[in-house]
Amino acid sequence: MESVKNVVNAVSDAVVGQRDAKKSDGFAKPKDFASQTQRGEVVGIEAKMNPLPEYEHQEDGYEKYHAANKLVGKKALITGGDSGIGRAVAVMYAMEGADVAIVYLPQEQVDAEVTKKQVEKYGRKCLLLPYDIQIESNCKKAVEETVSGLGGLNILVNNASVMYDTESITDITTEQFDRTIKTNIYGTFWMTKYAVPHLSKGDSIIQTTSQVAYAGPPTLIDYTMTKAAMLGLTRSLSNNLIKKGIRVNSVAPGPVWTPLQPCAMSKEKLDTWHEDSKAPIGRVGQPVELGPAYVFLASSDGSFISGQSIHVNGGTVLNG
Ligand SMILES: NC(=O)c1ccc[n+]([C@@H]2O[C@H](COP(=O)([O-])OP(=O)(O)OC[C@H]3O[C@@H](n4cnc5c(N)ncnc54)[C@H](O)[C@@H]3O)[C@@H](O)[C@H]2O)c1
Repeated sequence: MESVKNVVNAVSDAVVGQRDAKKSDGFAKPKDFASQTQRGEVVGIEAKMNPLPEYEHQEDGYEKYHAANKLVGKKALITGGDSGIGRAVAVMYAMEGADVAIVYLPQEQVDAEVTKKQVEKYGRKCLLLPYDIQIESNCKKAVEETVSGLGGLNILVNNASVMYDTESITDITTEQFDRTIKTNIYGTFWMTKYAVPHLSKGDSIIQTTSQVAYAGPPTLIDYTMTKAAMLGLTRSLSNNLIKKGIRVNSVAPGPVWTPLQPCAMSKEKLDTWHEDSKAPIGRVGQPVELGPAYVFLASSDGSFISGQSIHVNGGTVLNG
């Protein structure tokens, strides 16, 4: 067990080192990009991606984020916080003074260790919770361990999801449909159900929905169903909790370079993804560009906002 831990630590050190040494250039597509597909895996691994997604502003890249103690003393629980958007949120929350707990699948330990190192760099705690949220008892355990490990809970970010690009509804197997619904809807519901009793006035819940809930892309049918459900949860739960002073909102990202994408797509689709999916702004997004919306919604800056979605999507104008 100890030797497995040592290997995981060595890999995560290498990933942090690789990232620190790398210069940010938005999105440079390497020649062998298509071969990076992780299609066939349940979830993608960020450490295998090239270029690595940007989860933190680089000295020489996107303008550096200036934290302003917006979340000092807060305790946040972020599902899917090991990689992609969840990692960017975890790191930015830590920069703002919050301790965080992250939930992920055990096979993502390498990615989770990177998040932990980055959170600790800002002097905050990062609790690692390798639990499958398709199982109700795991969701309960994740909430309870966060409350006991961090000393409370103020912010729940329901960010974990799976997505598999599939040409036709007739190709969506019951196994895929089950995993998508169980992770994205049941997992979100159970995490929320067990978190709510610990929340009080000023606290908040944030769902990561997607622009797909509004746009309905043709090859993400099951996934789109779940993102629309998360939007429904945001609206209904907001109306249910707002009198207690607990705010419920969503962030609806557009296309972002995260492990979700190589996991969802075949070689052929991945090869042209960043061209086919590019937002009106002329490119896909990076996880770091999502973080500020989550800070805004969780902090008192968003004190009059509930039941809403913030569209961070590079300029696609959507209804709702
Ligand atoms: N990347 C995009 O283009 C994009 C666009 C719109 C919305 N989103 C949403 O952003 C959120 C984060 O995804 P991402 O793009 O950062 O990719 P990601 O793969 O980094 O994050 C998804 C995370 O979900 C977690 N997860 C999946 N199944 C799980 C399970 N059974 N139990 C526990 N955790 C599980 C994994 O830890 C994984 O890290 C998702 O909700 C996704 O739908 C992403």
